[in-house]
Amino acid sequence: MSEITKTNKKIILTGDRPTGRLHLGHYVGSLKRRVELQNSKTYDEIYIMIADAQALTDNADKPEKVRQNVTEVALDYLACGLDPKLSTLFIQSQIAELTELAFYYLNLVTVARLQRNPTVKAESIARGFGSGIPVGFFTYPVSQTADITAFDATTVPVGEDQLPMLEQAREIVRSFNGIYGDTLVEPKELLPENSVCGRLPGTDGTAKMSKSLGNCIYLSDSADEVKSKIMSMYTDPNHIKVEDKGNTKDNPVFIYLDAFSKSGDFQKYLPDYANLAELKAHYERGGLGDVKVKRFLNSVLQETLEPLRIRRAEFQKDIGGVYDMLKAGCERARETAARTTARVKKAMKIDYFG
Ligand code: TRP
Repeated sequence: MSEITKTNKKIILTGDRPTGRLHLGHYVGSLKRRVELQNSKTYDEIYIMIADAQALTDNADKPEKVRQNVTEVALDYLACGLDPKLSTLFIQSQIAELTELAFYYLNLVTVARLQRNPTVKAESIARGFGSGIPVGFFTYPVSQTADITAFDATTVPVGEDQLPMLEQAREIVRSFNGIYGDTLVEPKELLPENSVCGRLPGTDGTAKMSKSLGNCIYLSDSADEVKSKIMSMYTDPNHIKVEDKGNTKDNPVFIYLDAFSKSGDFQKYLPDYANLAELKAHYERGGLGDVKVKRFLNSVLQETLEPLRIRRAEFQKDIGGVYDMLKAGCERARETAARTTARVKKAMKIDYFG
């Protein structure tokens, strides 16, 4: 059959809301993996979406903020090594078919089901919405299903907080295929490889990096900003004197080292220790000061971030070029989404004119 059949390709779709610059939590939680997946060339197609329409579901009154952050997120993507030659980078709002699909999928989901979605629930509480929740925000899991299915995505690399979204997407796909015949592809999530990467705490030790808490290290922070954020990081509050026994478990400095330090880093920056286990053991038995560990973390993170910073600055010099790239990405994405939408409308018997 022709272009209206499903494909057997391995296809990735994922994305981010442009509500702020991307930070280290995004990096270990998803960006780094995306770049690895991209460079492994094991997927036939990769779509990376800047979810501006989704960002507007709880920022309807802040269009300028969303618009500015589209540029920031695009720069962060390029800085991390996402390559427009290998991955299609695009902006959600420019693909009208995504809105169209979402409208049809809304018929397959109940209010009760959306109310049970734990991510929507948690995010709604965090934003203090109560019964004042915007309908667009309430239904964003449905829109997200449209994003995923429009590209026949088989694989959605996401953090753990997005699991309920994937569950919901699969339910919608099954429901659609049950009613209208086998049309949509059921997506699977691809979770971060280890739990440290699933959720990086903030520099203040709270569970998550979040812009509103001011506890983020951004990929675009200068070397000085990164250093000063690290040097004032929360550690073990009971580790007051150097000789005190310390806790490495709920200590964000050590959690960041878990996430970022590589074996070669010790030889290079802290040769008194063979590895992270030795460093942790010393901290736990007492006699190791926070400043020394923080300096080491600074070296490790600067080494990780420096190449990103250089690439970001390079792309920043040519924002016009970045937008040309996004425009081309949108055009490619639209073609794919239009093909899927034609298939969907045919299945739903609303393809009146051939
Ligand atoms: N919800 C994601 C975020 O919070 C962004 C997003 C929108 C997304 N649509 C998606 C992620 C589809 C994966 C698949 O950043």
